[in-house]
Amino acid sequence: MAYNNIIVETQGAVGLIRLNRPKALNALCQELTEEMTVALDAFEANDDIGAIVITGSDKAFAAGADIKEMQSKTYMDVYKNDFITATWERVARCRKPVIAAVAGYALGGGCELAMMCDFILAADNAQFGQPEIKLGTIPGAGGTQRLTRFVGKSKAMEMCLTGRMMDAEEAERSGLVSRIVPLDDLEDEALKVAAKIADLSRPVVMMCKESVNKAYETTLKEGIMFERRVFHSTFATEDQKEGMAAFAEKRSAAFKHQ
Ligand code: CAA
Repeated sequence: MAYNNIIVETQGAVGLIRLNRPKALNALCQELTEEMTVALDAFEANDDIGAIVITGSDKAFAAGADIKEMQSKTYMDVYKNDFITATWERVARCRKPVIAAVAGYALGGGCELAMMCDFILAADNAQFGQPEIKLGTIPGAGGTQRLTRFVGKSKAMEMCLTGRMMDAEEAERSGLVSRIVPLDDLEDEALKVAAKIADLSRPVVMMCKESVNKAYETTLKEGIMFERRVFHSTFATEDQKEGMAAFAEKRSAAFKHQ
């Protein structure tokens, strides 16, 4: 499929989606989010892909939902079409690991998109924010919920109520991003980490992702029980036998992803 707003590449076992609407700082218009959904479906269906990276440009990961596209929508338009959640949540539903490599602005829907990924690597020029309040609306793709879980109530409340941006240092300190990388190294580093993950047992990686995500969705007791069951089920995989044999035999594991 030919894309108008994203560039899709594969590098070995890693799928790369580059948001590419430079004139609008990668604002997430309807067409872009639909294209992202198609690209993610294709990567999920491709057995040769073990991890996915979503990135933008040096100036902007994404400056939010497309304000010009949204401005004249009525309540009935957005309600009937389940505006935002319908296409965007595809990222959060991905079973394969997804890394957000964020440089420049990640605002509004851009910040929300990054938070739907499994973890965020930030360039040193990254800026995160939920400025919707300044537009007379509120975050609509999970920002009030996910940001609060990442950085806690006080900081999330301040950011959502004032629209203030957070730089990369503050984002790392607050737990929003896993690491800061110099801007010039961001893409290489994200691809390197993704390749490392893609080299591991793919079914076990998916089980691990599911288990960490449970921590956000249930009580500690239920989450620990879920983790125990999944941990037990890894013993039904060939990859667990291979991984542990390789350790005992002092060699690298050759996972078959089954
Ligand atoms: N939607 C549509 N167009 C956007 C956009 C957006 N979210 N963000 C930037 N653009 C466009 C600008 O209109 C401008 O286009 P023109 O050249 O045609 O005028 C172009 O991108 C470049 O932007 P600026 O000239 O504003 O660039 P700047 O460097 O001066 O400022 C910025 C950068 C601070 C990011 C500023 O563009 C900005 O504040 N953008 C809007 C951020 C925002 O409010 N995001 C939240 C959107 S609502 C949302 O996301 C809802 C939700 O929860 C899903």
